[in-house]
Amino acid sequence: MTRPVILTGDRTTGPLHVGHYAGSLANRLKMQDDHEQFLLLADAQALTDNAQDPARTARNVLEVAMDYLAVGIDPARSTICLQSHLPALAELSMLYLNFVTVARLERNPTIKDEIRARGFGRDIPAGFLCYPAAQAADITGFRATVVPVGADQAPLIEQTNEIARRINAVAGAEVLPEARAVIPEAGRLPSVDGTAKMSKSGGGALRLSAAPDEIRAAVRAMFTDPGHLRIEDPGRVEGNVVFAWLDAFDPDKAEVEALKARYRAGGLGDGAIKKRLEEILQALLAPIREERARLARDPGHVTRVIREGTERARARTEATKDAVTAALGLFRL
Ligand code: TRP
Repeated sequence: MTRPVILTGDRTTGPLHVGHYAGSLANRLKMQDDHEQFLLLADAQALTDNAQDPARTARNVLEVAMDYLAVGIDPARSTICLQSHLPALAELSMLYLNFVTVARLERNPTIKDEIRARGFGRDIPAGFLCYPAAQAADITGFRATVVPVGADQAPLIEQTNEIARRINAVAGAEVLPEARAVIPEAGRLPSVDGTAKMSKSGGGALRLSAAPDEIRAAVRAMFTDPGHLRIEDPGRVEGNVVFAWLDAFDPDKAEVEALKARYRAGGLGDGAIKKRLEEILQALLAPIREERARLARDPGHVTRVIREGTERARARTEATKDAVTAALGLFRL
């Protein structure tokens, strides 16, 4: 029996944080047994908003790979590969750019948000505007049907499927499968200060490799309900970062609901919910931190894992490129 194929990835712009864990790593871990999983270190896509600092995207390839391995991605079951070393993906990207309009790219909600967040103004790098076509190449290049990602990525999967349908229509055959995004129910994890989503570069994030005192400090600083001044006052759960994180990380959902009810009614202090969250985070992150430290002492091993994964991925993506150019009827020499 063939397992459904997963392709997902991360830009190599910095080490991953607990938002990535809640957003997609936990799903990837859960799915690695009954799926054929490919994890893409998206160093080429990372260049689309880091062209001034290519060394950053290179430096973080091993960081992200170590994060994958440390959370429990098993290279015997999942394939970790490097985007810039898979030329078929670049070739498919160029082809796909002919099946999408500039207006459609500009309307993509993820792209719109990111353009605003990065303050590009009118000076949008062309590679950045076009990266949804490259992401379509990533997903379809592996013939993936399942894409575990954070909610912010959903419009990119939609655009991937549009491109796949156009290619199939021109080819007159189902040469590319459509894919579906797998998004966590809890929604996006808010940053520690409650202002935004966590970014790899910005504040408000908690790295997967955070030390115990960093975990403690992050939970202490966490935004709750500024109107909840005394323990006996009723408190707000909506917009309260501690509860958002409990929703994401506390395995005892019934207990979290009971705590929310007590907090709303009054009589439950911020100290108590923060203590619970800190214990959960310390227990979650301790083994990850230890495994990561072990991997950091053996970068040669991590590099070998990526090299072997990239070889496997190369064969697969080349086959897709050949299938697409053949189905489109391009001239063959
Ligand atoms: N866009 C993703 C990010 O910003 C990275 C990525 C590249 C990706 N290619 C992908 C995600 C394919 C899912 C599928 O981190």
